[in-house]
Amino acid sequence: MEYSKKVLDHFMNPRNVGEIEDATATGTVGNPICGDIMKMYLKIEDNVIVDAKFKTFGCGSAIATSSMATEMIIGKTTDEALVLTNKAVAEALDGLPAVKMHCSVLAEQAVKKALYDYYQREGLMTPEREKMFKILDDDEH
Ligand code: FES
Repeated sequence: MEYSKKVLDHFMNPRNVGEIEDATATGTVGNPICGDIMKMYLKIEDNVIVDAKFKTFGCGSAIATSSMATEMIIGKTTDEALVLTNKAVAEALDGLPAVKMHCSVLAEQAVKKALYDYYQREGLMTPEREKMFKILDDDEH
């Protein structure tokens, strides 16, 4: 399978690359399959993600999915962002080659990790939210 136009566009012109200095939460994850690394920065106001940026030492598919993921979560509530799956991001990019699906997990995991950190720190973790992290963890790739 070839890369879709959208994947190539987000790879060549990634959106929201960089750091947020006064980020509300950050999440860093590594991909156990290839060793690539991703750091996600979220700026959250009143439970709404008002800005998101990422930095990655990762492949083109990781860059494209992170770029798309940041576009999809900006403006969303933290709970809405929490249910965003790597599959939904890949679909928004018109698909990824099957062997590259694992790369899209990096963005999802980094967002989740940042949100986990946020809920914990702000005392906002509820059993329902905790459950969402578990469900999503079981439903990878
Ligand atoms: Fe490592 Fe794609 S090969 S994230």
